[in-house]
Amino acid sequence: MSTPASTPAPDGSHQQRDHHPGTRVEFRGVTKVFTNNKNTETIALDDVSLTVEPGEVIGIIGYSGAGKSTLVRMINGLDTPTSGSLLLDGTDIVDMPESRMRKLRSRIGMIFQQFNLFQSRTAAGNVEYPLELAKMDKAQRKARVQEMLEFVGLSDKGKNYPEQLSGGQKQRVGIARALATNPSLLLADEATSALDPETTREVLALLRKVNKELGITIVVITHEMEVVRSIADKVAVMEAGRVVEYGSVYEVFSNPQTTVAQRFVATALRNTPDMVEEEDLLSHEGRLFTIDLTEDSGFFAASATAADNGVSINVVHGGVTTLQRQSFGKITVRLTGNQAAIEEFHRSLTRTTTIKEITR
Ligand SMILES: Nc1ncnc2c1ncn2[C@@H]1O[C@H](COP(=O)(O)OP(=O)(O)O)[C@@H](O)[C@H]1O
Ligand SMILES: [Mg+2]
Repeated sequence: MSTPASTPAPDGSHQQRDHHPGTRVEFRGVTKVFTNNKNTETIALDDVSLTVEPGEVIGIIGYSGAGKSTLVRMINGLDTPTSGSLLLDGTDIVDMPESRMRKLRSRIGMIFQQFNLFQSRTAAGNVEYPLELAKMDKAQRKARVQEMLEFVGLSDKGKNYPEQLSGGQKQRVGIARALATNPSLLLADEATSALDPETTREVLALLRKVNKELGITIVVITHEMEVVRSIADKVAVMEAGRVVEYGSVYEVFSNPQTTVAQRFVATALRNTPDMVEEEDLLSHEGRLFTIDLTEDSGFFAASATAADNGVSINVVHGGVTTLQRQSFGKITVRLTGNQAAIEEFHRSLTRTTTIKEITR
């Protein structure tokens, strides 16, 4: 699939598009308050400031009600902030006239949890729909539809209706449709939440390909940290309408700061013993320590010294993984033997990494 060297910016100019096919998204102090019919207010977004660089994949994670969908609805202009500004490639879209907003929206693709396909149209017909809206002529449309179906690996399914497709295939059609008009930004709101784990992996792999080959910016909304881990460069954690934590995926996974981020990371890594496992581990003799294994944790040196001084060390729990080409993880070890040497092991690791003793 080809992307022109210079694609028009949302405002129709070519200036900022020459360097990168992806959109830059910038929230500046965006607040969204919904007033419900009994005059009660819901602050869905609370002073959100967040920048997504061109070509980046950002994962926005949070529990239900955190404000994630409201955030995406702001980006595609389906809803407007109560205050603050939202810039797409430097242009503030708040209060933009509808005619300009419509043009801009054609540069944004969107995929959904429930796929939102037209049941009465074939896969090809669904992909063709936005091209009809864009008034592309028929021959060009047919060629583009075929190109898009090939890109998502469904070139033989064009004549199938949605009900004849699996969930993963439906989402591929959704992706082909979203990309047909050659957008510079793709928004995915819980796009894999209705899929099984294996199909989720396939769809995420396709989204990675979209980002790599087309260079477009992707905003992935999810409540699953596994999704963030497998696709995102950056992650923003949302809670009660706020972005409470933001960083590279490596930073947030290896060193989550807030309780909510720690919980999400724990679900994806499962490298610390849960309460039941702790109980089990504590029923044996020895002292238990959970240690962060980062690049220079000093764990092996400290272990060697302890072993030389009559301590025996057993790894009883843990997990190490790589993210963004860096390794990190946690292990839980049981130390038995010389108490002074165990104390020294604990002390020395306090200086080089994070170490926590598990006690009753
Ligand atoms: N149109 C609306 N009117 C009133 N309240 C809304 C509306 N849309 C969302 N909300 C409220 O805003 C908060 C954030 O919702 P949402 O953005 O859908 O969260 P998420 O996608 O993270 O689950 C929730 O408390 C929700 O009930
Ligand atoms: Mg939502």
